[in-house]
Amino acid sequence: MIHELVAKTQAGFSDLFGYEATGVWSAPGRVNLIGEHTDYNEGYVFPFAINRRTFAALALREDSTVRVASSFSDDIHQVDIANISSDAKNEWAAYPFGVAWAIQQLAEVSPSGFDCFIESDVPVGAGLSSSAAIECAVALGLNELWGAGLDRRKLARAGQLGENEIVGAPTGIMDQSASLLGEIDHGVFLDCRSLEATPIELGFSSADLELLIIDTKVAHRLVDGGYAARRAACETGATEMGVTSLRDLSIEDLEKAKEILDEVTFRRVRHVVTENQRVLDTIRTLREAGPTAIGQLMHASHESMRDDFEISVDELDTAVETAIRHGAIGARMTGGGFGGAAIALTPIGKISEVTLSILAEFEALGYAKPDIFAVSAAPGAIREV
Ligand code: GLA
Repeated sequence: MIHELVAKTQAGFSDLFGYEATGVWSAPGRVNLIGEHTDYNEGYVFPFAINRRTFAALALREDSTVRVASSFSDDIHQVDIANISSDAKNEWAAYPFGVAWAIQQLAEVSPSGFDCFIESDVPVGAGLSSSAAIECAVALGLNELWGAGLDRRKLARAGQLGENEIVGAPTGIMDQSASLLGEIDHGVFLDCRSLEATPIELGFSSADLELLIIDTKVAHRLVDGGYAARRAACETGATEMGVTSLRDLSIEDLEKAKEILDEVTFRRVRHVVTENQRVLDTIRTLREAGPTAIGQLMHASHESMRDDFEISVDELDTAVETAIRHGAIGARMTGGGFGGAAIALTPIGKISEVTLSILAEFEALGYAKPDIFAVSAAPGAIREV
């Protein structure tokens, strides 16, 4: 079945550029079930691709001009394929420009210019990786049109490289990996050191569970200082502990870390080390006991982000605690932090109670009205037509 947005994306392209696109590629947003701020520490993550997607209609041009446009902005951003740089004027177009640049770094291609039109139903700014969805849809399309021959892991790296160098956000590889490697009803268990990805069945629907997203509407931006500061603290911690990355530390090493590191760096390190263990425990628990047994691990992850890594905000804490009080099995903030969304694994019979309680609690506290909706695990990036 072709997604209704495919036709809209094709029409958007031909209305604007005056000819038909060669194809439409799509890629999903992602939600992270557990494993936060572990990816750039070469640790473990367990996200899944969600049933919200971004669509990119593309066609190569005879010349070296790149034009990108979208249904969510009136601007057409234009650049020469040889001159892509990290220019603030790029705005959101830095994502497609970034992957176009990064593919050239990772593959032998003689790239021509292209036209690109983007449609999306991935909520922006909610911590659901709307940016990775753009990167991966465009990356898959350009890879094919340019004959770059990169596999999905390399395309994930292209997305990350573009985001690091052209967008200017020092993010890890989780979001793009989930968007490219996702499978229906499965999470992507990713070892961010070896980049080995294992699909793990989630089993939510057979356990009568839904994963609710609570988008707090508190804007989070990965180019702001908080994310980079956490990453820097992890690097300091690893250097002072004499390891290449925090992945090399285990729970037993924390005693020594406490002696060596200053108090704040120690807590940053403790989050990453315990979070890696929680990802492994979640995978084992899911396999042995099913999804109803992972709630404690989700909550422990949230407490660690709130107290040790200090990336939560009041709205996220309220969403998490209210969800649990009203029947969610587990809940935690998800994504980079400092705003964005929380997730709540909720029995179907409790969805309306959890939803209404969060809405009421937010209103009572004078917070902006959150958006609450369920997501399911969907396939990764594909060519649609
Ligand atoms: C953002 C980044 C990811 C990852 C998460 C935190 O989503 O893009 O690479 O670091 O934050 O887990």
